[in-house]
Amino acid sequence: MPFTNRIFSGIKPSGDLHLGNYLGAIKRFVPLQDDFECIYCVVDMHAITVWQDPADLRRWTYEIAAAYLAAGLDPKKSIIFNQSQVAEHAELAWVFNCVARMGWMARMTQFKDKAGKNSENVSLGLFAYPSLMAADILLYKATHVPVGEDQKQHLELTRDIAAKFNNDFGPAIAAKGYEEEYFPQTEPVIAGPATRVMSLRDGTRKMSKSDAASDMATIYLMDDADAIAKKIKKAKTDPEPLPSEAQGLDARPEAANLVSIFAALADKSVDDVLAEYGGQGFGAFKPALAELAVSVLAPQATEMRRLVADPGEIDTILRDGADRARALAETTMAEVRDIVGFVR
Ligand code: TRP
Repeated sequence: MPFTNRIFSGIKPSGDLHLGNYLGAIKRFVPLQDDFECIYCVVDMHAITVWQDPADLRRWTYEIAAAYLAAGLDPKKSIIFNQSQVAEHAELAWVFNCVARMGWMARMTQFKDKAGKNSENVSLGLFAYPSLMAADILLYKATHVPVGEDQKQHLELTRDIAAKFNNDFGPAIAAKGYEEEYFPQTEPVIAGPATRVMSLRDGTRKMSKSDAASDMATIYLMDDADAIAKKIKKAKTDPEPLPSEAQGLDARPEAANLVSIFAALADKSVDDVLAEYGGQGFGAFKPALAELAVSVLAPQATEMRRLVADPGEIDTILRDGADRARALAETTMAEVRDIVGFVR
């Protein structure tokens, strides 16, 4: 029996959402609703792998839920919930902690980058993070996960965990009459171009929620129209006019970033944008980009502010989503307990 086409993805509530989160993730989640059964999560249990102030964690959880809704995720079509409301995520992660090998986890580049020289003093949860991510995905037997470049290795680990579980417990799976491939080999949904949104102050660094250099480097999803326009107009550029071909952007990181932001916001290719603006200077391009960004983002920011001002509506949506997620999760978890040999 083939697996149902199902998407799972999640965003961590660990900072204010910005344009990179929107173009790289949230915006891409919306059209997938038409072709897949979708489960979109606020992964609060992942967030606490590094210290989070409880009030911030709560605020950022609401902010992500609000951004999902404002961007057009439909809670009637998709399941929208926060991870900690479905305890089966933690339960399956424990089983996966016992399937995954220390050596696999130790190879994760994101852990190595985050832990750095401080690896003795980071949380055990940070080390086990990818096993919780595998549990998120496999609890729902998700067949597809939209991920950015930085999460590819974690998705490969998810496939390794699925394969090792299927293999280690093969005889028990067969004895209990379940499909031999109990957990699927989840595929990445490859993001198109222009998913990497760079800082407005330095085109060689990723746009991030905590830009030490300046707040002008980052467009936050809660920014109002004035802030969006101002940040774009003050963005770092070079003195040359825009090229007519994409190759002309090669050694021009700031120009390349603004053109790719334009393309992503307008649902156009970089070539289309350059066909229109090639030969023009930033004096003409920046106001056009600011107008486009404001028209796309400002109404969503307004809707997000309305939703977070009275979180009752979000509470209801998250609770309903969690109920629907739990119904699926309970089925998988009951089978996994049965396969592993836990007595009930
Ligand atoms: N690790 C992901 C990130 O940092 C977030 C995440 C947690 C996730 N669980 C997931 C993404 C499951 C996709 C699927 O961005």
